[in-house]
Amino acid sequence: MVLKEIKNIFHKELDEGYRKEEVDSFFYLLIEHYLGLERFVLALQPNLVVSKGEEQALFAALSQLRLHRPIQYIIGNAHFMDMDFKVDKDVLIPRPETEELVRWMVFELSAKPHGISILDIGTGSGCIAISLAKNLPEAKVFALDISEKAIAVAKQNAVDNDATVEFMHYDILNLDALATKFDVIVSNPPYVREQEKRTMHKNVTEYEPELALFVPNGNPLKYYEAIARFASKNLKKNGSLYLEINQYLAKETERLLRKHNFSEIVLRKDMFGNNRMMKGFDLNGVVY
Ligand SMILES: C[S@@+](CC[C@H](N)C(=O)[O-])C[C@H]1O[C@@H](n2cnc3c(N)ncnc32)[C@H](O)[C@@H]1O
Repeated sequence: MVLKEIKNIFHKELDEGYRKEEVDSFFYLLIEHYLGLERFVLALQPNLVVSKGEEQALFAALSQLRLHRPIQYIIGNAHFMDMDFKVDKDVLIPRPETEELVRWMVFELSAKPHGISILDIGTGSGCIAISLAKNLPEAKVFALDISEKAIAVAKQNAVDNDATVEFMHYDILNLDALATKFDVIVSNPPYVREQEKRTMHKNVTEYEPELALFVPNGNPLKYYEAIARFASKNLKKNGSLYLEINQYLAKETERLLRKHNFSEIVLRKDMFGNNRMMKGFDLNGVVY
């Protein structure tokens, strides 16, 4: 079969469930992944003949897309901060909003004159920690997660991206103090309330790890409470805490940070105009 015909079949099968541009973008990602072809090849050689094996791989991916399996899990890869990250069912797919958080941090922390220590809580694929290590080469970066499977993926991503990060296996809900104290703590913890689940797309609720996403309706800030408590004990004086937050709970998150003596709190919107990031300083942190 020729490339153009296969693309037409993709549109025929998928246009009902996805936007047309999304289907185009899936197709381009797949021909790049399975055939090693860049998207412009389709424009130049629409009648390029695809081998039987390649055809099978493309149609297998098409069946999974029909079931709304995320394209990143199908190809096992996600782009984040201009890097490639291995992803599988045990880790959240890195989001563009999280990239905005990392860019904000890189912008602010690049100005720090000396090597700083940074801890990423709930590292998942390692996307935040690894991007910080690559973009702030003077920094010493640590990362923790409760999921050993996620840590294994994150470790592989650090190797693949040639980044140095020290990964640790801990439960932030039961962690008091670590031997190292940090200049900066960052986290994108689980924050989606069970009640928000029904507004979410199938590709998230049926495929991404529950452990990475959901919190009980009655206690939606339980991770932020644990992180703020931990940060107030493990940040150095004037250390900063950066968080990705639930857009509907900005006021509550700010109140919680103030309760734990964080000050100079800044709330930032993401590219969609949603309240998505927060920063606070621990002016009373541990003096080193
Ligand atoms: C929203 S995901 C964020 C993943 C990654 N940092 C990112 O931004 O794409 C939250 C992460 O927190 C981890 N996690 C959940 N409960 C935890 C706990 N009690 N202690 C430490 N990590 C936890 C999950 O395994 C998951 O990797």
